[in-house]
Amino acid sequence: MVNRITAPERQDGDPTGRTLRPQSLAEFVGQAPIRERLQVYIQAAKARREPLDHVLLLSPPGLGKTTLAHIIAREMGREIKVSSGPAIERPGDLAAILTHLSPGDVLFVDEIHRLRPPVEEVLYPAMEDYKLDIVVGEGPHARSIRLDLAPFTLVGATTREGLLTTPLRDRFEVVFRLDFYEPEELAEIVARAAPRIGCVVDREAARELALRARGTPRIAIRLLRRARDVAQVGGMDRITTRAAQETLAMLGIDELGLDALDRRILEIVIDRFEGGPVGLETLASALGEDPNTIADLYEPFLISLGFLRRTPQGRLATDRAYTHLGRTPTRLL
Ligand SMILES: Nc1ncnc2c1ncn2[C@@H]1O[C@H](COP(=O)(O)OP(=O)(O)O)[C@@H](O)[C@H]1O
Ligand SMILES: [Mg+2]
Repeated sequence: MVNRITAPERQDGDPTGRTLRPQSLAEFVGQAPIRERLQVYIQAAKARREPLDHVLLLSPPGLGKTTLAHIIAREMGREIKVSSGPAIERPGDLAAILTHLSPGDVLFVDEIHRLRPPVEEVLYPAMEDYKLDIVVGEGPHARSIRLDLAPFTLVGATTREGLLTTPLRDRFEVVFRLDFYEPEELAEIVARAAPRIGCVVDREAARELALRARGTPRIAIRLLRRARDVAQVGGMDRITTRAAQETLAMLGIDELGLDALDRRILEIVIDRFEGGPVGLETLASALGEDPNTIADLYEPFLISLGFLRRTPQGRLATDRAYTHLGRTPTRLL
């Protein structure tokens, strides 16, 4: 897949590590209900000298799940161990991770919906009772022994809530769903990120970028970096509104933050399938994209704008989508 500037998943060149990540709850912009609840849970757990309850983070990519996981560990004053569903291939891999945790540590498992069933089985008693069941010996001599684990906090993250198994989901005491951000929040994220990447951004310019970042901090920061390039090449000492607009025009991002591919999705539904409903598979093959990629990365924002609807029969383009593309709606939705 080509690198789309507006693709919310991580790409090469995106800042990693500590440079841009907020380090504390106070620095984490937006998501106020989540921040408030986390603050209380963390304070209470610390007062009880217990690990925080297991936390499940749900959202489309780029909205701050990984960032929050790190903040949780930091606010608890504990270490974080980072892994992911696909990286933990066998039960033994998970056992090795679990037995190396210290009391209160945070284990962050990204893409937790991709854990294989035998690995998930190991996780259940670990989450519930901090126990590890292992089988020793073979054949008729095999027996299961139960080991104590250090009490820990599992922070699981996924972009695909629907792919989580019920038993796994039920073992999380705390479930947070991160929402797309408001433009003012993204403008603040842009303003705070600018000095950290060594540039100055005008207030209006930050807002301009924020409005086109499809509610996603990762995209807002990426647009900021591209605007910095444009300003620099243009010999400007800071990112002005004009530099921001030039950047967005150059990238083909329209006033709502849609890029060519988003518009193409809507065009295909509208022109080729008369507005739908069109099944995900059919839409994906018409686009030459993987169905999961469309469902995971492209659709959520189009749905949040009210341009696309998911129905049991397939995807439907709404009147607003027709209007946005300058077409006349053929039927009322
Ligand atoms: N609420 C926030 N405040 C400030 N920066 C944020 C916030 N959420 C995300 N970011 C920034 O956006 C980028 C993507 O966040 P990340 O946590 O990696 O998203 P996810 O894990 O959900 O894909 C990171 O650079 C992060 O620092
Ligand atoms: Mg992440």
